[in-house]
Amino acid sequence: MAELIVALDFSKKSQALSLAKQLKNEVKWLKIGLELYTRYGPEVTKELKALGFNIFLDLKFLDIPNTVLGAVRSATALGIDMLTVHLLGGESMIRAALKGRELGQGENEHKPLVLGVTILTSLERKDLPWPESREISRVVLDLAQKGQNWGVDGVVCSAQELALLKAKLEPGLYYLTPGIRLDQKSDDQKRTMSPGEAVKLGANFLVVGRPITCAQDPVRAARLFQKEIHPATRR
Ligand code: C5P
Repeated sequence: MAELIVALDFSKKSQALSLAKQLKNEVKWLKIGLELYTRYGPEVTKELKALGFNIFLDLKFLDIPNTVLGAVRSATALGIDMLTVHLLGGESMIRAALKGRELGQGENEHKPLVLGVTILTSLERKDLPWPESREISRVVLDLAQKGQNWGVDGVVCSAQELALLKAKLEPGLYYLTPGIRLDQKSDDQKRTMSPGEAVKLGANFLVVGRPITCAQDPVRAARLFQKEIHPATRR
């Protein structure tokens, strides 16, 4: 069953906690990203966890293997449920991340899912530093295939690439898709899709930020997303 994850991209902890409390009966997963984590780090992570949410720590680690090993170990020790690393970091970095998770589990029994980021959903081919090179979907497929071989639990991609990845990769990977929109309003997300379509194509986790966090009524907005994600079970 697909899960909606609300991205708490706030610069104030009070905003994040207040929205989390409002969404208590609407979603199980929250995302903590760079903005919130850089200011409040482990403190806000623990507070949101204490409210009963599953936490997706989306810091998209990309560094030398030894540094990423340490970062993933620290994140795992915090008790979070899922985290991201950039597949562009290469095999040694990904394997170091998985080793870091193992070490972190020694400090905290919890085993977070490690997901590999392919190409950000805010990018189109012309935004890449090498636009003259391959189609974005080919680059995504290549990275995802390598990530699967290196041992990640899942990949982050645009829902527009799901059909291709599902056809070409071995089963068993989780697919997390940001850039999910109920309408096609223009913002910085370029490779977008509706929640219903993303679920049909096989997304396991759908990350939604501004369409919920900036909505006049975030609870109502979250319900609209959930209705498309779980049409049979929601009012
Ligand atoms: O506000 P919006 O719905 O665009 O938020 C999407 C969230 O998903 C943001 O928190 C962003 O950091 C995250 N994300 C993304 N593209 C990726 C990975 C994560 O947009 N490839």
